[in-house]
Amino acid sequence: MSQFGFIIKHHQVVLGDRIRTTNHKKDWKEFKASFQTAAGQMQPIIVKPLDTKTEDGLPQFELIAGERRWRAIGELYAEGQKVTTLEEGTIWAATREQLPRRTQLLLEFSENEQREGFTFLDKARFIREFHEECIAEFGKDNWSQELTAHTLKLSPASISHYLRLEEAVKIDPAVAKATTLNAAVKRMKVSEKLKQRHDEVKKDDSNSYKRATAILHNGDAREWIKSIPDNSVDLINFDPPWGSEVSYKSQENHEGFDDSEEYAQSLMEALFPELFRVLKDDRFCVFWFRSWADESMAAMAQRFGFNLAFNRTACIWYKPDKVSDQNRDPERDLNEGYEKFFLLRKGNPLFHTRRPNNVFAYNRVPQSQVIHPTEKPFDLAADIIRLCTVPGELVLDPTAGSSVFLDTAIRTNRKATGCELSTTYWARGVTRLAEYLKTFKEG
Ligand SMILES: C[S@@+](CC[C@H](N)C(=O)[O-])C[C@H]1O[C@@H](n2cnc3c(N)ncnc32)[C@H](O)[C@@H]1O
Repeated sequence: MSQFGFIIKHHQVVLGDRIRTTNHKKDWKEFKASFQTAAGQMQPIIVKPLDTKTEDGLPQFELIAGERRWRAIGELYAEGQKVTTLEEGTIWAATREQLPRRTQLLLEFSENEQREGFTFLDKARFIREFHEECIAEFGKDNWSQELTAHTLKLSPASISHYLRLEEAVKIDPAVAKATTLNAAVKRMKVSEKLKQRHDEVKKDDSNSYKRATAILHNGDAREWIKSIPDNSVDLINFDPPWGSEVSYKSQENHEGFDDSEEYAQSLMEALFPELFRVLKDDRFCVFWFRSWADESMAAMAQRFGFNLAFNRTACIWYKPDKVSDQNRDPERDLNEGYEKFFLLRKGNPLFHTRRPNNVFAYNRVPQSQVIHPTEKPFDLAADIIRLCTVPGELVLDPTAGSSVFLDTAIRTNRKATGCELSTTYWARGVTRLAEYLKTFKEG
């Protein structure tokens, strides 16, 4: 009957502490009856030899696995019944070492699954070893993930996850830190997608965007944007004039546009469809807007195809410094301590760095260093660029102002392209970019 193992008396077996007592109600009668069919006891119980003896002087064994089999056979004997393949009062047993490796793994798997601290990663390693053992034993053509799933009583989808997880941890250690399988699978899918972004960039080694004047165009963005190909940009920073009729007029001369609300509105209406067109799928567009207009600004962006994911909450650039800027009436008005922007999405983009929340706290550029009235600080631009892109990708800014986003992009190893209407700001931007590109070339 048995190719391995040995026959012992049923009462030589003692239940160890580790054995789990199962609920016998379900199918118990059928299970017991199966020992009385021609097949009899089809699998051995697994035991470990002990130093102790039974009252009638026989060596004792601790039960390691097969509690249901041992109990069913015991009950049959107590009822005066027989097991087809066994002599009265005996049972087929084997030690773990006598089992084929595959069966040993199966056994360890079901034991470990009950154990606290058996992580999904331990499980993934087990599943892989078992799967490979089966392939080695039965051949590649005769074994599949479905069969592994069936044998381990897991769903085929979860087997494929477990097998991929093992690989994913090698690429992204964050996968191993996840506390549940679902979280790990989610993280794995993210890191697979992120890796794809890095791989795509490696393929593109184009040599453009190396001259400041090639990066920054002087002119009307509504015309310039037409020269940008469809689906070619990885991040847009869109910071149009706000129509507040204050920011530029209070400063030095500005050229070429009025800062009225109508102008701002018509510029956005003209640029939004173009920005959507040039942005690749699954990418972000950072959209700065007048802080009193969340709803209408969200609605406009959505009208042109962008989405705001789960909610319409704006991000905030919080300015912890106490500098009073543009406050014409400090007796009545509070200083502007923050600005708002939306992280608009085309498709379903992912972040590339971890960020605790949607408040970005960075001091303003000191007054002695600003080259533009609404200039954002470098660190803020760097935070946003790193969050939304990987090195080598292209950042576009159609209303560049101080060109800080373009400058930050190239300083963080991205590519940059942008436009500025005012010749004054354009010239300052080009100087700023050239300064870095010069060091870069010399270095
Ligand atoms: C809010 S500012 C951008 C500030 C910039 N994000 C920064 O941090 O320095 C808007 C800029 O858009 C420019 N602008 C206005 N109309 C434009 C147009 N039609 N094409 C290109 N730039 C334009 C203005 O000259 C201004 O410098």
